[in-house]
Amino acid sequence: MAAYKIIDHTYDVVVVGAGGAGLRATMGMGQAGFKTACITKVFPTRSHTVAAQGGIGASLGNMAEDNWKWHMYDTVKGSDWLGDQDAIEYMCREAVPAVHELEHFGVPFSRTPEGKIYQRPFGGHMSNYGEKPVQRACAAADRTGHAILHTLYSQCLRHECEFFIEYFALDLIMDADGSCRGVMAWNLDDGTLHRFRAHQVVLASGGYGRAFFSCTSAHTCTGDGHGMVTRAGLPVQDMEFVQFHPTGMYGSGCLITEGARGEGGYLTNSAGERFMERYAPTAKDLASRDVVSRAMTMEIREGRGVGKENDHIFLHLEHLGAETLELRLPGITETAKIFTGVDVTKAPAPVLPTVHYNMGGIPTNVHGEVLRPTKDNPDATVPGLMAIGEAACVSVHGANRLGTNSLLDIVVFGRAAALRAAEVMKPGTPHKPLPKDGGDFAVSRFDRLRNASGSMHTSEIRLGMQKTMQMDAAVFRTSKSLAEGCAKMDQVASTLPQIKINDRSTVWNSDLAEALELENLMDCALATIVSAEARKESRGAHAHEDFPDRDDVNWQKHSLAWVENGKVRLDYRPVHTYTLTDEVEYIKPQKRVY
Ligand code: FUM
Repeated sequence: MAAYKIIDHTYDVVVVGAGGAGLRATMGMGQAGFKTACITKVFPTRSHTVAAQGGIGASLGNMAEDNWKWHMYDTVKGSDWLGDQDAIEYMCREAVPAVHELEHFGVPFSRTPEGKIYQRPFGGHMSNYGEKPVQRACAAADRTGHAILHTLYSQCLRHECEFFIEYFALDLIMDADGSCRGVMAWNLDDGTLHRFRAHQVVLASGGYGRAFFSCTSAHTCTGDGHGMVTRAGLPVQDMEFVQFHPTGMYGSGCLITEGARGEGGYLTNSAGERFMERYAPTAKDLASRDVVSRAMTMEIREGRGVGKENDHIFLHLEHLGAETLELRLPGITETAKIFTGVDVTKAPAPVLPTVHYNMGGIPTNVHGEVLRPTKDNPDATVPGLMAIGEAACVSVHGANRLGTNSLLDIVVFGRAAALRAAEVMKPGTPHKPLPKDGGDFAVSRFDRLRNASGSMHTSEIRLGMQKTMQMDAAVFRTSKSLAEGCAKMDQVASTLPQIKINDRSTVWNSDLAEALELENLMDCALATIVSAEARKESRGAHAHEDFPDRDDVNWQKHSLAWVENGKVRLDYRPVHTYTLTDEVEYIKPQKRVY
């Protein structure tokens, strides 16, 4: 193995990822007095949170009466009773102060004529326990993520947090006692390797949308935290639950916010029919995302798709008028023109359900502490390791996330992680020596891939994975498609050792970076398809045509997947069927209609 220059750093806390979750945690850790570093693959304000459009959910009640308990009910129902209700209670209760805090930090929210934060309707947001739609999505036009991300970054700088920008996190440094002691990273700019020692590593590395062929996720969403966790021998949870956003732009997959339907947009089929009225008589186009994506897929499958190949659906916004579109939806008006060639003030936009969000991820408790579940203790934690945001599975989204609950999740749990750290640690606590081989695993993996001289390029293996996942872990799944998907993914994963890297450099080597990302994606894809094949029911985003009903007796449980050398082992842990406080009662499973 080549000798690599390793640069050592010591921090109280190291956060991996600078999206909304990572920045909120970084800021909170800095505010609590911890010496905090944030390692990020891209410049912080280019993180994928920047692409979040429609809003952040909070029952402020600025437009009509609302209540955090109704928000909690909607979230539990949206999760199809797979969400942990203690965590959901925490998130929905904290939503109102979290948004006010963002407002005070300087987020430029859109305003009502009276100067209050503007809120729009969104899918599955209802008043009075499912009675009728309510305006709960707090919006900054259709650039809410952009506004939040920039604001949080400036707050981090205020608290003197240190940023390691364009550093690729490679692997965790784990101790023999099972605790996490730090993280290794590669500086893309000068090729050096870095060993970060920390009392607490916080994974805020986002989702793994890029395991699929068509997604709304940035190219950077490659499950890097998930990969680090699986390689550390820890499980990922509920990976079979992958959200398809109803309105990805046909062709590119770019997002058209659900806020477009919140503002009055609607979907039609080739007969010009507003078909959502048949599938969700009360919420119609604003039903939960899994419901709308399935309805669109049914229309296409039954021959009522639009376009030359009858393979997509129309989203109408033209009746809203150019002025409203300019005020409320300027971003998607511009991107629809660029990516579909359609002027939405004049014609409907072509859309298709597109992979958007991973409900599953690294299992944690409400404090962001990563779980290492055992038979005796399904909630046992890993000392020194936290995960937050889309990388994590708290689980507040269960089997299907409500739109706007992801921006909420990142700020609420980013803050919760910092609060927890302040409870359990003291700034400046001396470090124990690192294990002798601390970081060796990351270095040898880096060296192995850098010198990989097989016969297949990363892009070839990646395409095989993406096409398989798109085809076989789709909106609708069958026993046959899932079994085929498992077999194909087994085959695709078995080609990883044949990877070929053309560029041996350690500086700005995108060939190597993509190979490192592919290993992360592959573990995510394997865990997803194997967990999906095993789950013999339909729940939220997991629509299994051979098992069309939800089965609470046998399947109201979280899937756990360990991935080792391309093989997946499954187990399960109970859903928390209790709340955090006595102020709300456990919401018992009900039939889920909109
Ligand atoms: O449709 C959207 O604006 C996306 C929001 C979300 O995923 O929460």
